[in-house]
Amino acid sequence: MNTHFTRRDIAKAAAAATLASSGGTQAAAQTLPGTGAEPSKPTAREFPKDFFWGTATSSYQIEGAWNEDGKGPSIWDTFAHTPGKIVGGATGDVAVDHYHRYKEDVALMKDIGASAYRFSISWPRIFPNGTGQPNPKGLDFYSRLVDELKAANIEPFATLFHWDMPQALQDKGGGWQSRDTAKAFGDYAGYMADKLSDRIRHFFTLNELSTFVEHGHKNGLLAPGLKLPPGQLNQVRHHHVLGHGLAVQAIRAKGRPGTKVGPAEHLISTAPIIETAENIKAAANAMREFNAGYMTVMAEGKYTDAFLAKQGADAPKFTDEELKIIGSPIDFIGTNIYMIHAYVQAIDAAPGYKVVAGGGFTPPPFRPFPKGYPRAVYPGSNETIVFNLSPEAMYWGTRQLVNVWGAKEIFITESGMPTTDEGDAGGDVDRIVWLRTLLTQLQRATAEGVPVRGWFHWSTMDNLEWIFGFEPKFGLIRVDTKTLQRTPKLSAAWFRETARRNAVS
Ligand code: BGC
Repeated sequence: MNTHFTRRDIAKAAAAATLASSGGTQAAAQTLPGTGAEPSKPTAREFPKDFFWGTATSSYQIEGAWNEDGKGPSIWDTFAHTPGKIVGGATGDVAVDHYHRYKEDVALMKDIGASAYRFSISWPRIFPNGTGQPNPKGLDFYSRLVDELKAANIEPFATLFHWDMPQALQDKGGGWQSRDTAKAFGDYAGYMADKLSDRIRHFFTLNELSTFVEHGHKNGLLAPGLKLPPGQLNQVRHHHVLGHGLAVQAIRAKGRPGTKVGPAEHLISTAPIIETAENIKAAANAMREFNAGYMTVMAEGKYTDAFLAKQGADAPKFTDEELKIIGSPIDFIGTNIYMIHAYVQAIDAAPGYKVVAGGGFTPPPFRPFPKGYPRAVYPGSNETIVFNLSPEAMYWGTRQLVNVWGAKEIFITESGMPTTDEGDAGGDVDRIVWLRTLLTQLQRATAEGVPVRGWFHWSTMDNLEWIFGFEPKFGLIRVDTKTLQRTPKLSAAWFRETARRNAVS
């Protein structure tokens, strides 16, 4: 092709551009995609029919009522009541008072156009001692919540464990250090499926296994605040995935026909730095290995050879029977996607891949992202926690689930961004621009046939962001920390319009 332009060509092009921008000729105007205020036609950027447009929360982060109606204490109650653990001394004692305001919250979700809601059930609200007698008032709360959602035409998705474990189980056997906790979790999961699967079709077993285990048991940053040596840590990992498997089996046994179940994991996600067949394969292999103790063993029913070799004498102790339980077939993979953790390139030497840049909250110490890489910081974290903005996380983070484990159904159980409070509900332009960028990549995946059934925005409303207290704002709905008044943000209007069009634009 001749790419050589003469001066005359350039002058001609410039004259045409001037005409077009000043109203120009009719011919020039016709080349524009739309006219006046008409939005662009979204047909090319549509999501599949019946796609779920959801928002998500978790019990400890929103409910409050920490000691009401027979609820037992959780490890997060204990942790937050320990001075110095949470920024600003915040606690979830009241959180954003959702326990008492759930009707208002469901009405707001309806207003912002959500067709699904992912919430978590507080285990100690149902079993105050972890096992034994259930607390009828606890069950009643979730039953009323589900009724309210159904009446608003919002599909309920329940997570059984989003980190607020009964303190009684921590006291008894060291929580997930004990195999008994996995068993107790399975029993609780079966109980919930028995009671609620008449109205709930989708259950998530455990939320972000890797974050909970690594930061709660390795570096003590999150509850229960332990710093275990490698051998014990591997046993906690193992009991956690075992709890998932036992819950899957119990839900199959006690749930109504058609009840679906899967995890809501935060995978260490990889992407090829340059899209070639070798790099794509290398990124898939890396993803399988980086998640060996969590998603890989849940999906495959075995630990990889490389994982066991690396752990050596500290490897978890397990039986073949346990591996079978852990690998119980699931209906979908739920995945929280916030960013790419490792950009990967193929190499000839073993293991066949290298990480050219990586980072995040949980991953191993990869070669870091360059200093100037665009990022969002967690308010309240003194810039120690950052999101490396990598929108292809949505594309590769879902496509690789099919490549690596043959996922048949996928839910994005969380994605969003921490922002600051601008003092009103109109300032979260950063959230809108970021979400639009992310969803463009998600739509790329669904358009290519990656079976993503729904997307849940984290979060429905501003809430207690764990150790960073109330400083990071993740909500589509602003919550005034003093008055607890709710106000939909500008991003909520964006969410409503996107859900209504079932398309990103
Ligand atoms: C967790 C949420 C958390 C969010 C933002 C995920 O790690 O599941 O509970 O609030 O990310 O940090």
